[in-house]
Amino acid sequence: MASVRLLCLFNGKAAGCSRTLARTGCRNVCSSPSRLQSMSAWVIDQYGSSGVLRHTEEITIPTINFAHDVMIKVSAASLNPLDVNMRGGYGAALLNIRRDPLSMLNSFSEFPLILGRDLSGVVVDCGSGVTHFAPGDEVWAAIPPWKQGSLAEYVTLTEYEVSYKPKSLSHIEAASIPYVANTAFSALVNTGGLCRENSSNKRVLITGASGGVGTFSIQLLKAWGAHVTVTCSQNAEGLVRGLGADEVVDYTSGDVAEKLEVMQRFDVILDNVGGDTEEWAIGLLKPWSGAKYVTLVSPLLLNTDSMGLLDGTLNAGLTLHNKAFQNITSSGVFYRWAFYAPDGPALDEVSRLVDAGKILPVVEAQFPFTQVPQAFQKLEQGHARGKTVVKVAEDDECIQTAESEQGVQVTSQQN
Ligand SMILES: NC(=O)c1ccc[n+]([C@@H]2O[C@H](COP(=O)([O-])OP(=O)(O)OC[C@H]3O[C@@H](n4cnc5c(N)ncnc54)[C@H](OP(=O)(O)O)[C@@H]3O)[C@@H](O)[C@H]2O)c1
Repeated sequence: MASVRLLCLFNGKAAGCSRTLARTGCRNVCSSPSRLQSMSAWVIDQYGSSGVLRHTEEITIPTINFAHDVMIKVSAASLNPLDVNMRGGYGAALLNIRRDPLSMLNSFSEFPLILGRDLSGVVVDCGSGVTHFAPGDEVWAAIPPWKQGSLAEYVTLTEYEVSYKPKSLSHIEAASIPYVANTAFSALVNTGGLCRENSSNKRVLITGASGGVGTFSIQLLKAWGAHVTVTCSQNAEGLVRGLGADEVVDYTSGDVAEKLEVMQRFDVILDNVGGDTEEWAIGLLKPWSGAKYVTLVSPLLLNTDSMGLLDGTLNAGLTLHNKAFQNITSSGVFYRWAFYAPDGPALDEVSRLVDAGKILPVVEAQFPFTQVPQAFQKLEQGHARGKTVVKVAEDDECIQTAESEQGVQVTSQQN
């Protein structure tokens, strides 16, 4: 059986072949000879601009090392602003500690580094402790930034980080969702205190709603019955209204704060823009009612990069504490920073919402695996309208849309 599995893994048709192995049980943890095999990936060997991206066929395949590991053949990946930032070295100080605490003594041990945080693909192997998945399962996941990314043929994650892909989506469509979904859950649920049961009477403002996190968050909140107001450019109004936004404020013409001040106050604000947004937006929250301002744009990683781990963390902690203290004492409003967190169970819930037609993928652009640098360039131009996706596996039968196509596709359900 072991040799059959290896054959399946490396003949480029792992998805179909391993289907026949599904439910036959996962193998024991072992140091597999497949460690000697290599895979295709886009890597960086140093931080910098788009020129540092390098395609190679010689990256060691990340095999099963721990009992709860799940090895996945990647069909599609997507890009996030974090990938562009990480390519330039953003967050390296803190992320390297997560990757390997001893890396403090060994600079550049993270290279060759594989970027790409989202994946949709097929399980090809599991550790002995994996109970939830089996080879052949179609899955999706958002990869923590301290792990090797999805711009590669194979990725190995823990089973907690992985979830069954929605049946109604192609891999290209599915790859557009996990990282923004886990980020939105972390921000809106874990930090903002919203959930399916308590959202129906809540008024939520989302700034920067036309990008990856925003287009997902609108749909999640509408699925939970919240009233959603958003800010975006005028030319994104059709997109966000189509996703369910109740009120849309164009931030490119006139004073956005003035337009929002005439509205009823909000219970939660999700800030995807940062900068001076909090200066005018916090006053839009209902005072003394447990309202929360949740921003995804914090100085934590920039601080640790520029000041070092200790000073950077202390400085960020002090900033957060001061702002939180000032807002709670002056207006009874909670001020919080939110961060992406891996969360397979949250993706399970998203998967159900997608298959129920409540959440649609928003794919703005897609690129073949040969054009990863072009995909980065697209992202760097800004003005995202949903997500940029990379088709990793050429033999992916589920991919239904054309390569390198650009233009927002809000895909409706196929079943
Ligand atoms: N803390 C974390 O763990 C975490 C995780 C994920 C994302 N983030 C951060 O959260 C932010 C949003 O992420 P994303 O993936 O959604 O980014 P994105 O896909 O690049 O979307 C950003 C959107 O904001 C719009 N925008 C820019 N300036 C705006 C303004 N002043 N008012 C309203 N809209 C504006 C952009 O379109 P136009 O320029 O055309 O208006 C774009 O559609 C990014 O800063 C990202 O780095 C943080």
